Amino acid sequence: MQPVTISQALAAAYSTINKIDAILLLQHVLIVNHAFLLTYPDQMLTAQQVEKFSSLVQQRIKGLPVAYLMGERAFFDLTLKVTEAVLIPRPETELLVEWALKLIPSDEFCNVLDLGTGSGAIAISIARHRPQAQVVAVDLSPTAVDVCRRNADILKVANLNAINGNWFDELSGEKFDLIVSNPPYVAEDDPHLLQGDLQFEPRIALSAGEHGMACITHIINAAPDYLSKEGWLLLEHGYDQAEACRKLLRDMDFSNICSYPDLAGIMRVSGGQLNLSI
Ligand SMILES: C[S@@+](CC[C@H](N)C(=O)[O-])C[C@H]1O[C@@H](n2cnc3c(N)ncnc32)[C@H](O)[C@@H]1O
Repeated sequence: MQPVTISQALAAAYSTINKIDAILLLQHVLIVNHAFLLTYPDQMLTAQQVEKFSSLVQQRIKGLPVAYLMGERAFFDLTLKVTEAVLIPRPETELLVEWALKLIPSDEFCNVLDLGTGSGAIAISIARHRPQAQVVAVDLSPTAVDVCRRNADILKVANLNAINGNWFDELSGEKFDLIVSNPPYVAEDDPHLLQGDLQFEPRIALSAGEHGMACITHIINAAPDYLSKEGWLLLEHGYDQAEACRKLLRDMDFSNICSYPDLAGIMRVSGGQLNLSI
């Protein structure tokens, strides 16, 4: 194998994969940051580093998501471990965390539930920013629960309990001040499921029946039984599902119902407060 420098390795990779992906993968192999790559373009790679980088580039050419190749993804102010068992956390989900943090007092106990936690992106972000809160994180996939627990351990989050279960099934009799969820909401026949990163992500994390609305409908209909008086329910949803979510919330008699757009201006999260008179 020919000895190569950082700049030569990157130049070769740029001809086959996206530039940013190549930079991220080389940073991952060399365990350095971007500044290092810019500062030492003439540094030689070892034979093992060349081999590992080439292998990652080949897998990226076949479409494997960069986050799975690196085994991690940045979310909010954290770096989370990710495996093929979990959805790769998306920037738009940070909106849900921001709304949740506005509702949770920083100096008081608050009982929070994250349904469909995956890597733990939402639950761990909330738990870290609100140490007085107690967060329960639920997922149907036992391997996703393992990933969430691992992230909580690495990030030293003690106020989180990750459990395996089907939505509310393991929570009989419990009440929460806030329920958050980014459930699967892509329609089962959506062609995007066969494209890009989505084709490698767990189908259980992405798609739902009833044109993508099945999980959202179930969660909104069941949530009142698990919310404390004046508790809030916040949900992420698809680009065209805000109106349907608000209608479901109205039908269940929620108050203060609203939706917020993501950075692309798409209504992405909706929520409401359990009717104050109940
Ligand atoms: C869109 S992913 C969200 C993952 C993570 N919360 C995030 O925002 O990155 C949906 C998650 O819901 C989980 N899920 C799907 N059906 C479920 C069910 N019936 N009960 C609990 N979790 C479920 C999936 O395993 C997946 O982790």
